[in-house]
Amino acid sequence: MKEDIVHLHGNTSDLIIQTHPVVEILYWGDNISGVETNAIQAIKRAIPNGRLDVDTPMTISPEQGRGVFSSPGMEGHRQGLDWSPVFEFKTIQQNGNNLLITTEDQNAGLRLVCELNLDPKTDVLQLRHTLTNLKSETYQVDRLAVTLPLPERAEELMAFHGRWVREFQPHRLKVKHGGYQQENRRGRTSHEYFPGFMQGTSGFSEQQGEVWGFHLAWSGNHRLRTDVKTDGRRFVQAEALYFSGEMTLAEGESLSTPWVYAAYSAHGLNGMSHAFHQFIRQQIVHFPDNKPRPVHLNTWEGIYFDHNPEYIMQMASRAAELGVERFIIDDGWFKGRNNDLAALGDWYLDTKKYPNGLEPVVAHVRNLGMEFGIWVEPEMINPDSDLFRAHPDWLLAVEGYQQPTGRYQYVLDLQKPQVFDYLLKRLDSLLSSYDVAYVKWDMNREIVQPGHDGYAALDGQTKALYDLLDELRSRHPKVEFESCASGGGRIDFEILKRTHRFWTSDNNDALERQHIQRGMSYFFPPEVMGAHIGGRHCHCTRRSHSIGFRGLTALFGHMGVELDPVKESAEERAGFTRYIALHKQLRSLLHSGKVVRIDHHDPALQINGVIAQDQSSAVFLLSQLAMPTYTLSGCARFAGLDPNKNYRLKVLDHPASLRTGGVMKKLPQWLEEELTLSGAWLAKAGIALPVMDPESALLIRLDAV
Ligand code: GLA
Repeated sequence: MKEDIVHLHGNTSDLIIQTHPVVEILYWGDNISGVETNAIQAIKRAIPNGRLDVDTPMTISPEQGRGVFSSPGMEGHRQGLDWSPVFEFKTIQQNGNNLLITTEDQNAGLRLVCELNLDPKTDVLQLRHTLTNLKSETYQVDRLAVTLPLPERAEELMAFHGRWVREFQPHRLKVKHGGYQQENRRGRTSHEYFPGFMQGTSGFSEQQGEVWGFHLAWSGNHRLRTDVKTDGRRFVQAEALYFSGEMTLAEGESLSTPWVYAAYSAHGLNGMSHAFHQFIRQQIVHFPDNKPRPVHLNTWEGIYFDHNPEYIMQMASRAAELGVERFIIDDGWFKGRNNDLAALGDWYLDTKKYPNGLEPVVAHVRNLGMEFGIWVEPEMINPDSDLFRAHPDWLLAVEGYQQPTGRYQYVLDLQKPQVFDYLLKRLDSLLSSYDVAYVKWDMNREIVQPGHDGYAALDGQTKALYDLLDELRSRHPKVEFESCASGGGRIDFEILKRTHRFWTSDNNDALERQHIQRGMSYFFPPEVMGAHIGGRHCHCTRRSHSIGFRGLTALFGHMGVELDPVKESAEERAGFTRYIALHKQLRSLLHSGKVVRIDHHDPALQINGVIAQDQSSAVFLLSQLAMPTYTLSGCARFAGLDPNKNYRLKVLDHPASLRTGGVMKKLPQWLEEELTLSGAWLAKAGIALPVMDPESALLIRLDAV
């Protein structure tokens, strides 16, 4: 093989990159061999008439100066100069599948270093760029993106839109010309645009088609785009989005892009999810202990701001009876916090509500054998707070402007050392004073005019948040953190490096959750997806669901309950107990296995499951989301099992109405007696489905015999 070609081998995917004469990714896709011959010559592009006389390579950071007319990899200038750099290859260091490629433009005085790794275990491709200013005059960076090429056939895009209480809603479009761009300027990862999408061959599905998935691991503003060049070539760009003047580099200073994580799958979206899930498990999330994810009870929808320690202790006792393992007191515990109008910033216990301190509550929870958790929202401040009265200048804002509040609050400027130190001290004191195992870290507003010393500073704010979390984690390594931002407003890989769970959505409506959780499952494994059983009447939608549908929907995440167990009926409590027990019975499988989403012809039925990595067992959930489209629902076919093994099929839970509702005269056989079927049969022929009522679900288990 010629020296200027590097071939990285993953488990199922490969990447081939050329370093000379320019640094360009030539291939990223299915495993490939034969590169040793003249293969690279075979893909050398033609030079057509009617345009530039030379080939215009899409280098790792495409350059206008090489004749690339699409979006360049970086934009910036030095007082108007050095605005069109062309980076020449300097060096490459290779360590296994890790590459460090250095390029430079000596005229412009800029160095661009690309770090790239194709993880041989999971096939996740990880990369970022670092730009360094080599001249004495300041360099102004307007954009710095990671660019990845895509083959021409990847013409369908699946991206996400969303909003509060409706996160991770997928949408699809064919990108034939021009492109698609999504921008988030809300100051947090956002409900609106998850910083990730996937692109693939036409009609790619859960189980079929080629798929390339991308995620920008960043909790601030971002821009993601996919483009079709007029010559048919395609590329994806992902970057942190900077405000005007936000990024200036003095001599010798560097700026790194966030990490981009990408994965190729030859077998639909499931293959991509498998890669991301395994990568998260191995390299992103770090649980303090290797213990099962404890079942939660979170007090928010149960009591809101109405904190009474005696009553909370009763709730805890009831929670323990249900099988709850971690009890979390949500918003309302600190000084003056009786509603959402006041007190954010005053991180001292409200001694009016807790005259005997928090200790008796913590002790009670601990004596019941549960862990204790607590809610905070450190980045925020209410104008009606002692902190604001003392330090009105601590805001992340631009002086001379009145910025709008959000949920009656402003944002603190974490880059001010006094602010950072104050928060660190208060949080450190909270975690040192009480036996706290878990912190629900919330962030409930969007950021307008993020100014620090007059300059745009959202990037700095995001990094300061990471620093604050990192410092707290180093002081309290046993404490787990949840990333919450009005539900799922801050869900990304970079925050997950320093947290252990996401609050997926403020919406506990099981039907909505089916969609939200499926959307989230493309990138995130079940063990980091907070999923709670809410009350029968959902607080967000005022819709009602049976305990069966609520319980089974929450089962496939990191489970919890979000209600007041004291007020619930005996029947409901029996339901919580049942689904908590079922979750505990299955969680080692759910939290380690391979997530599969099944292609089914009728969108009214959603099928998802988890298969043990060794294919010895699996659970599948059949969720009837709407009225079946046809009188019969056809067969469900379960992909991913070992075709050569036989599996015993057992129904673990089904809607009561299945037997009593009068929808069917005769049930499918497997609902009457246990059947044993081969993995091949289950994948190809499957099992005939019952007719189910809308908003009900059925759980089956398959065990190899
Ligand atoms: C946000 C969270 C909720 C709850 C409230 C408390 O909305 O998403 O779960 O913690 O704040 O104010």
